[in-house]
Amino acid sequence: MTTLLATPSTWPRILTAGFGATDPTDLDAAVAAGAFEGLTRAVRTHGPTGTIALLRASGLRGRGGGGFPTADKWDACAMAQGAVRHVVANGYESDPATHIARGLMEERPYAVVEGVAIAAFAVGATESYIAVRAEYGEAIRRLEAAVARAEAAGHIGANVLGSGRDIFVSVRPVRGAYMLGEETVLLKALEGKRGQPEQRPPYPSERGLWGRPTVVNDVVTLGAVGWIVANSADAYAAIGDPEAPGTTLVQVAGAIEEPGIAEVPTGTRLREIVDLAGQMASGHRLKAVVVGGPTGGILPPRELDTPYGYAALREVGAHVGSGSILVADERACVVDLATLLTRYCADEACGKTIPCRIGLRRLAEIGQRAASGHARPTDPALLADLSADIVASALCAHERAATNPLTSVLRYFRPELDEHLLRSACPAGVCHPIGVTPAGTAT
Ligand SMILES: Cc1cc2nc3c(=O)[nH]c(=O)nc-3n(C[C@H](O)[C@H](O)[C@H](O)COP(=O)(O)O)c2cc1C
Ligand code: SF4
Repeated sequence: MTTLLATPSTWPRILTAGFGATDPTDLDAAVAAGAFEGLTRAVRTHGPTGTIALLRASGLRGRGGGGFPTADKWDACAMAQGAVRHVVANGYESDPATHIARGLMEERPYAVVEGVAIAAFAVGATESYIAVRAEYGEAIRRLEAAVARAEAAGHIGANVLGSGRDIFVSVRPVRGAYMLGEETVLLKALEGKRGQPEQRPPYPSERGLWGRPTVVNDVVTLGAVGWIVANSADAYAAIGDPEAPGTTLVQVAGAIEEPGIAEVPTGTRLREIVDLAGQMASGHRLKAVVVGGPTGGILPPRELDTPYGYAALREVGAHVGSGSILVADERACVVDLATLLTRYCADEACGKTIPCRIGLRRLAEIGQRAASGHARPTDPALLADLSADIVASALCAHERAATNPLTSVLRYFRPELDEHLLRSACPAGVCHPIGVTPAGTAT
């Protein structure tokens, strides 16, 4: 059960409209609320090229973290050489602590199915797949029911709306580790193979599933597509940040009273998003927010005016990532938190690229040395240099982002880091550095 946070009545509800329905797989109710209107317009009015042009005018960008323009991806797939194409909806949701995709797939299965069907129509795909984290049993059941009902009613399947086009959608549970959410790994999993990220180009839009041109989109990206085609590109483009318009789903959790997910216009300030989740737990003070999941940046309260957007978050050393915003209060130690996240990123790195495989582990060790009172004088410089080298040699987006936790501590929490490094002390009382205090007392 997903807790949907209340948002101001002036904010549009595109992705979360209808959340909380008694039966989200009820096709008649979904159709009465507008489901498949976008697909009908795409087929009857816009045609494949017109649908891609409409998506381009809407400004929709991928919600899977990278923010790639959706129309460019569809266009590249439609234009790529090959007789057979596919669409894959990415419903894996790598970040184990985030439940945004799960919430959408459970609550709006028809929105996801319709988004896949419109993408399939636009690029010319006959067989499309919704790849869902195998642990998301309820999402899988609801999506399967939605696909079966939509096909029985003729919204998808053979000769959709008499267009002569077949659009078949199936749900594929996938099981794996963190890296499975990366698109090239996900495609390998669907092929039944063990996967590691592939060097790109070629992108999946040119050579993807079984070597065929494939669109891979986050389920959250696809969840907005039906609304956009049904309501107009202009209506969508008018919402939020003009650089990347529309709404998106975020999850606010941690040391706050009402954790949950919310639909927010892009460009909303972090402060406003955090406020949606109510008061700080037990009256504690906000110390930091981790924005972007395990590879997120740890930001101090003064950065809470940052707009929630791809460029703005990157500028402050965070990123959209998994859509997670984790709130930490003054009881948390940022050195401990960053070290934990970096260790997780190192453990989950697939190992294909040496600077990532070895570099992230060395980076985590710097944090561990700081937390245990064994820091070296060169550690701050090493942290900065090593992070820059890791980012510069990145093969996939994991390596580019995994340095965020520790580099953001270096950037924003230097006094607290220095307490660990120079005095073997943890101001939050979380770490237990075995060191010597300035007075010479063993700690
Ligand atoms: C380590 C890693 C994990 C990722 N996890 C996800 C994920 O859980 N869901 C997702 O949609 N994209 C994830 N991505 C991004 C995908 O590779 C891909 O860019 C995305 O699915 C494309 O969809 P979009 O264009 O709609 O954003 C991940 C990327 C990396 C490097
Ligand atoms: S950068 Fe890291 S996670 Fe990505 S392919 Fe290389 S080793 Fe694997």
